[in-house]
Amino acid sequence: FIPPSSGGTGGGLTAKDALGNDILVSDFLATHNAGDRTLAQGLKGDPTYIVVTEEKTIASYGLNAVCTHLGCVVPWNASEDKFICPCHGSQYNSEGKVVRGPAPLSLALVHADVTEDDTVVFTPWTETDFRTNEDPWWA
Ligand code: FES
Repeated sequence: FIPPSSGGTGGGLTAKDALGNDILVSDFLATHNAGDRTLAQGLKGDPTYIVVTEEKTIASYGLNAVCTHLGCVVPWNASEDKFICPCHGSQYNSEGKVVRGPAPLSLALVHADVTEDDTVVFTPWTETDFRTNEDPWWA
């Protein structure tokens, strides 16, 4: 058994696209617009959104796409500027903060850091949730 590459940054995981290839930041930003939220493979295999900021950089946080209600993957709805769960209608704002139930909690955060290798590395988010100023429920 050979574990997947961790990207060499202590406990982090290099973000990968749907084909399992490392996402390259220069390519990614050339093909994505400010405000895009794009699914990548994240920690523990969880689908995780990479966020392109209004300044067209990679946001320093990623969003775990697993709905906190019953675990559906929540799609981004750009025209509504929300994540809207197709299973039971929960809604999350553009930062993944829950704004409509039945989901009880906001989408989990991860850190997303751009490396010198032009990749994005996800690491666990254990600090205060900047959206709620509460301890992270997922840590
Ligand atoms: Fe998302 Fe139920 S699983 S609203």
